[in-house]
Amino acid sequence: MKAVVLRGPGEIAVEDRPQPSPAEGEALLKVNMIGLCGSDLNSYRGKNPMASFPRIPGHEISATVVDRIAGFHSGDQVTLSPYTSCGKCAACKRGRPNACQYNQTLGVQRDGGLTEYLVVPPEKLYTANLSLMELCLVEPLTVGFHAVARGRVTGADTVAIIGCGGVGLGAVAAAGFRGARTIGVDVDDAKLEIARKAGATELINTSREDLHAKLSQLTNGFGPDVIIEAIGLPSTFRAAVEEVAFTGRIVYIGYAKEPVAYETRLFVQKELDILGSRNALPEDFREVIRMLEEHRFPVDDAVSRIVPLEETPEAIAAWSADPARFTKIMVQVG
Ligand SMILES: NC(=O)c1ccc[n+]([C@@H]2O[C@H](COP(=O)([O-])OP(=O)(O)OC[C@H]3O[C@@H](n4cnc5c(N)ncnc54)[C@H](O)[C@@H]3O)[C@@H](O)[C@H]2O)c1
Ligand SMILES: [Zn+2]
Ligand SMILES: [Zn+2]
Repeated sequence: MKAVVLRGPGEIAVEDRPQPSPAEGEALLKVNMIGLCGSDLNSYRGKNPMASFPRIPGHEISATVVDRIAGFHSGDQVTLSPYTSCGKCAACKRGRPNACQYNQTLGVQRDGGLTEYLVVPPEKLYTANLSLMELCLVEPLTVGFHAVARGRVTGADTVAIIGCGGVGLGAVAAAGFRGARTIGVDVDDAKLEIARKAGATELINTSREDLHAKLSQLTNGFGPDVIIEAIGLPSTFRAAVEEVAFTGRIVYIGYAKEPVAYETRLFVQKELDILGSRNALPEDFREVIRMLEEHRFPVDDAVSRIVPLEETPEAIAAWSADPARFTKIMVQVG
């Protein structure tokens, strides 16, 4: 079978690989479509510290079940959770396997989906009444959905999401889906326009508008109940603490690439809940699937290009050369 292989940083090619065979109880999947994500790009650029080589990338997967297995029929359309959990670490024991200390993500620490056939444990699979493209969007959207669940967002909340890229857009959709008043914050009007279609009721472009003035104006000077940071910059990490309401909740999804200095007095004075959010739980997958089945998400706007498997090396190189030109690239495999 054909597979896209990252041989090392900047080195990517289509290779022939033996077709995997499932062990007892495992599911053999025929891969249909794969969404490329920022972490695949980082692996390609040699900037993903978790990635090792050679590696088949790809973890946003739409596939068909080949042979009947417990709980699934041959021909079922599925997406899957690309994470593993050890069952023994503190996170796993607390029922939070999404934050497993020893997680291995498909396409990062283990070979992923950019190939024709894939073997996975059936408990990772989710069936859904969705198109191939929608199935590929489930996993990337779950990250924002999990953050909104961590922030205990309800319809009574005003939520600001700072950064409406691939990950933040999921948080916008989740907050909107829960009925919250949802404020999208970004520096890019095109991203904000997609956020509006995904459920943001107010938009702030901080390249020309003052974040503090706008948020104050929208919340009678109190600040949002919940702020979700989905970029990873020191300035936006700090802005979350400065702008959130007293007794508000902050959820950090972005990975900051450098240390962040804080006015920690605000943690105490505002009595804040400051939370991290990593990957997603099964209930987040089910909530995203429900939202997509209700056609509440602007799928076509979120995807900028579909290429055949053979053109993946060229597409990743083009993306790496000019990341701002693309929202999401999908690879049609079968
Ligand atoms: N916690 C997790 O499980 C998890 C999973 C995946 C990614 N991440 C992290 O989430 C972050 C976002 O990832 P992504 O794929 O959405 O990235 P992205 O590049 O697609 O999105 C970032 C967005 O932030 C906007 N932005 C940049 N600077 C800004 C500023 N100063 N003010 C306002 N907006 C600004 C950009 O225009 C863009 O829309 C990264 O740090 C990534 O490492 C975390
Ligand atoms: Zn991803
Ligand atoms: Zn674990």
